[in-house]
Amino acid sequence: ETSEKDREFQAKIDRGVRIEANDWMPEGYRKTLIRQISQHAHSEIVGQLPEGNWITRAPSLQRKAILLAKVQDEAGHGLYLYCAAETLGISRDEMTAQLLSGKAKYSSIFNYPTLTWADMGAVGWLVDGAAIMNQVPLQRCSYGPYSRAMIRVCKEESFHQRQGFDVMRQLCQGTEEQKAMAQDALNRWWWPSLMMFGPSDKDSVHSEQSMRWGIKQNTNDELRQKFVDQTVPQAEWLGLTVPDPELKWNEDKGGYDFGEPDWSEFFEVIKGNGPCNKDRLAARNKAWDDGAWYRDGLTAHAEKQKQQIAA
Ligand code: 3HC
Repeated sequence: ETSEKDREFQAKIDRGVRIEANDWMPEGYRKTLIRQISQHAHSEIVGQLPEGNWITRAPSLQRKAILLAKVQDEAGHGLYLYCAAETLGISRDEMTAQLLSGKAKYSSIFNYPTLTWADMGAVGWLVDGAAIMNQVPLQRCSYGPYSRAMIRVCKEESFHQRQGFDVMRQLCQGTEEQKAMAQDALNRWWWPSLMMFGPSDKDSVHSEQSMRWGIKQNTNDELRQKFVDQTVPQAEWLGLTVPDPELKWNEDKGGYDFGEPDWSEFFEVIKGNGPCNKDRLAARNKAWDDGAWYRDGLTAHAEKQKQQIAA
């Protein structure tokens, strides 16, 4: 049952007032923001791994420099988002422990392997394209620190998406083999990119409450539809075929009809049984362990500083 405070809070949300860290908020609002923002941050950090794999294998110095810049951007996105989550009362160490133990979710998309250079194109074009679709509305999220983090993230994501599309363009305008690589990457990344938007609305447990609290502006299916409508013409421009036999323009709806993602695959992946879940967690645990000496050094240095000030 809702209290007077809950009702006042909802009235603020309905008036479009931004909620700040020191404002009163229902425990459920705090909890779902910690859940979503920490998972978003984990996604950025784990998202560096599939692309990091190709930095040393990039076909040119220019492509290497661009990919390096993108992967570094993702680390920064993770930092903004962990900081936004900390304003809600959870510590960075707690969030890191949740990721490393396998308890926390991160975006399903990063549990797929990046097999060829064309994957760097497909990931930038489709994955960052989908991420932009989902992050632009988050700039209007009711929670101030999250919405402000999104403004900088969205600016950088558009560079990520353009550079990916440019890799696909270059391959599609190259040799037959290069175009076949681009088509193979589209075949493997199309459906997992649609799954990034979350389960269909009927299976989305959080959407209704998140929309009432102004955290979510659109439903999962709405954003998925927008993504398909925007991306299919780009695939056609590239001369590539979207791997969905049910894809068809629907004049009445002013959008494409398209097939259903394989939701059993989706739920398996988010349960931890995707192609790369174990590798991704192992890589993050190794990075944590390998960095222990550096953290210990920082802590020892801080301790010494404190003693000198106290003395
Ligand atoms: N991957 C993993 N888990 C997912 C998921 C996905 N693609 N989609 C949904 N889920 C999970 C939800 O977290 C929830 O599980 P939980 O209760 O244990 O958290 C469950 O499936 C039910 O889904 P809901 O639709 O009810 O959950 P949400 O309302 O949270 O909607 C979401 C899911 C749309 C992903 C939403 O959480 C969101 O907008 N998150 C912030 C944006 C984000 O994380 N984007 C993907 C990151 S990609 C990225 O940023 C990197 C880029 O730089 C390339």
